Amino acid sequence: MLNRGLVLGAVAAIAAQSAQAVAVYGQCGGLNWTGSTVCDAGSYCLYSNPYYSQCVPGTASTTATATTSSATTTSTTTTTSASATPTSLRGLHALAKAKGRYFGTATDQLWTNTDTAYLAITGNSSEFGANTPGNQQKWDATEKSRNVFTYTNGDYEVAWAENHSQIARGHTLVWHSQLPSWVSSGGFDNATLISIMENHIANVAGHYKGQVYSWDVVNEPFNEDGTWRTSVFYNTIGPSYVAIALRAARAADPTAKLYLNDYNTDWTGSKSDAMYALAQSLIAQGVPLDGIGFQAHLIVNSFSRTFQANYQRFADLGLDVAITELDIRMTLPTTDALLASQAENYKYVVNACLAVSRCVGITVWDTSDDYSWIPSVFPTQGAALLFDANKKPKPAYYSVADALAAATVKGTWS
Ligand SMILES: *[C@@H]1O[C@H](CO)[C@@H](O)[C@H](O)[C@H]1NC(C)=O
Ligand SMILES: *[C@@H]1O[C@H](CO)[C@@H](O)[C@H](O)[C@H]1NC(C)=O
Ligand SMILES: *[C@@H]1O[C@H](CO)[C@@H](O)[C@H](O)[C@H]1NC(C)=O
Ligand SMILES: *[C@@H]1O[C@H](CO)[C@@H](O)[C@H](O)[C@H]1NC(C)=O
Repeated sequence: MLNRGLVLGAVAAIAAQSAQAVAVYGQCGGLNWTGSTVCDAGSYCLYSNPYYSQCVPGTASTTATATTSSATTTSTTTTTSASATPTSLRGLHALAKAKGRYFGTATDQLWTNTDTAYLAITGNSSEFGANTPGNQQKWDATEKSRNVFTYTNGDYEVAWAENHSQIARGHTLVWHSQLPSWVSSGGFDNATLISIMENHIANVAGHYKGQVYSWDVVNEPFNEDGTWRTSVFYNTIGPSYVAIALRAARAADPTAKLYLNDYNTDWTGSKSDAMYALAQSLIAQGVPLDGIGFQAHLIVNSFSRTFQANYQRFADLGLDVAITELDIRMTLPTTDALLASQAENYKYVVNACLAVSRCVGITVWDTSDDYSWIPSVFPTQGAALLFDANKKPKPAYYSVADALAAATVKGTWS
């Protein structure tokens, strides 16, 4: 899950589309606004403040005054129609499921959680039909000491998901990080490390056999330039550690979909090219591989917009693809404009998946901003998720719901 701030230089060019209608949650007015004041069908331009008006879903009960850019206009001149009530939920997973996909979230430490609003949304299967345990199935949680396995917390998360009619995505079996030092610094020879890795997979994937929809078998194998990431697995075993891990996972749980998962691979480039070459090579060798996970830890307006073509080329190899850890962070504090950009960015990402029939699902990396991993790793950043810290849906929630509702390509998940 870690995305160590590798910001793509190419800031997405959001073209000034003054002639076209504005997408939902785009700006449609405000002081000195020169863009379009016309919103996409199904939405209208809602006056927010003298500096900013925004397209929101629904139908305006009053019109013209809402779009004026005059600084003297006050909010009392507009009335929001009931259909745009910004706190009603739309059911993201229900919308996704109708299009042959799942919509999921990731959670951590549910067993100590007493935040009823968070638990209600996170456990509502209309909103989230899939759950990824954030940390409970990693090596440091499951095999802290050699051949001593602990499943208490992972079991809780998986049972909780099942109790809430959610599938579970297993995460993750082989990763360079959150790896106990007895593995990373054990000085094992090749054969011994292979047996340690196979034993780990046999136990953990075997323990959850039949209970998880998929496993992120190998996590983050590549550097940004597409070279192999050094890790005890790569350094000792070489690139074949990936094939060995996948075969061990298939043996341990024949029905779980087996994934490779990485970040900054959503767009075409050296890193996704490396993942593509690896996938091709594994398929050619007959290694069991079912899907590629694209983490999509993103920064508002800072990614190259080639997701759909990139996802499609992996699908064309006969693989499922999934967005596995989606969040789109911003430098705090939030502003209406940043939240509007975030909503547009989320819509872009979700649409890229929805255009590819084998993009089976989308997982956001937790439910609400107060549970996000971002502020702890990037202290000036945050607000990356679909619900705010008060568990209120943000503009991005509605842009995602709209994208799911509008999807025309049926997915292959059921
Ligand atoms: C907006 O326009 C007014 C004049 O209409 C001008 O005085 C002001 O500097 C402009 N503000 C910005 C931020 O461009
Ligand atoms: C779950 O969310 C849906 C909207 O997506 C809502 O209609 C329903 O009442 C919620 N269920 C519970 C148990 O809160
Ligand atoms: C799941 O449901 C079972 C049966 O009701 C219950 O015993 C168990 O405590 C629940 N577990 C979690 C984590 O919610
Ligand atoms: C380790 O052993 C595996 C399995 O025999 C082999 O594929 C791999 O090339 C070996 N790695 C090294 C560095 O010798």
